[in-house]
Amino acid sequence: MINNYKHNTVLLNEAVNSLHIKPDGIYVDATFGSGGHAKLILSKLNKNGKLIVMDRDPLAIKVAYNILDNRCYIIYDNFSNMIKYIKKLNLLGHIDGILLDLGISSMQLDDSNRGFSYMKNGPLDMRMNNTIGYTAGYWLNHAKYNDIYSVLHNLGEERYAKYISKNICRFKKYNSVTSTMDLSKIIIKSYKNINTYSKKHPATKSFRAIRMFINKELEEIKLLLSSISHILSFKGILSIISFHSLEDRIIKHFMSPITTIDSVNSFSINQQSILNINKDKKFKFLKKIKPSLNEISNNRRSRSAILRIAQKIY
Ligand SMILES: C[S@@+](CC[C@H](N)C(=O)[O-])C[C@H]1O[C@@H](n2cnc3c(N)ncnc32)[C@H](O)[C@@H]1O
Repeated sequence: MINNYKHNTVLLNEAVNSLHIKPDGIYVDATFGSGGHAKLILSKLNKNGKLIVMDRDPLAIKVAYNILDNRCYIIYDNFSNMIKYIKKLNLLGHIDGILLDLGISSMQLDDSNRGFSYMKNGPLDMRMNNTIGYTAGYWLNHAKYNDIYSVLHNLGEERYAKYISKNICRFKKYNSVTSTMDLSKIIIKSYKNINTYSKKHPATKSFRAIRMFINKELEEIKLLLSSISHILSFKGILSIISFHSLEDRIIKHFMSPITTIDSVNSFSINQQSILNINKDKKFKFLKKIKPSLNEISNNRRSRSAILRIAQKIY
């Protein structure tokens, strides 16, 4: 049953090729998902090669135990804690490549019980690790107008954050927001009231923003980047696939050879910390790759993907 979960892996060959796999090297796939990238990495390793995989989703970890072999080490935790495990394994400075494929997997999105999709009714959960922390529903029902507005505006870049937040608060006066459809209907109604039209589903940005907030997705990336130079070997490769402009901005800045005044100004106060992470420029940006038109036509989810690749240069 577990082996039946399918995730249409984005930029499969491009991401794995970017790591320039050495058959006896040591690699980390920090976002295992259903293992699409991990399996291809593994196929390029010989019996001395090692693959460390991580995921914060217990189901992804079950899949990993089912499909990986004894060249693999499986870690059930957030990738922001990677350094702790690499240290325990005595591998600091010995990792040849790290791959991150951010966001959620189809396995998570397609399961209505996980509450990630506005297309399927289910409990408003949205936790990638659904065994800890509070759900999106719990947060929405306890949050104040300003907090909801701030998430929708800052993380969702939602133009109508004000109307949607107001309508959520109105709804909460008499009901609880418990299901994905409760939230989706409030958002659709807010859009109708403003009489606006967009090709995207009105709930797209709000759902993504709440998911990013509940899972602290931007903080996770910043924390990992702040320790990554200790983890990678000299000439080690860092390859990251992102799907959202806020994520990409952090990664782009981290890999960028120069910090321009423009790029500094484009960061909000709480994003400024990223400016110090690669200040001694231990990384050299190598390449940016986007999915081909062919991939986009076969897998719509890939259309916003950007793969950025950098190398540790000292
Ligand atoms: C897009 S999927 C990866 C798909 C995978 N590359 C494949 O080919 O099947 C992203 C995965 O990363 C996991 N994830 C996202 N953020 C994480 C974090 N901060 N720490 C650990 N795992 C994370 C999610 O639970 C999800 O399973």
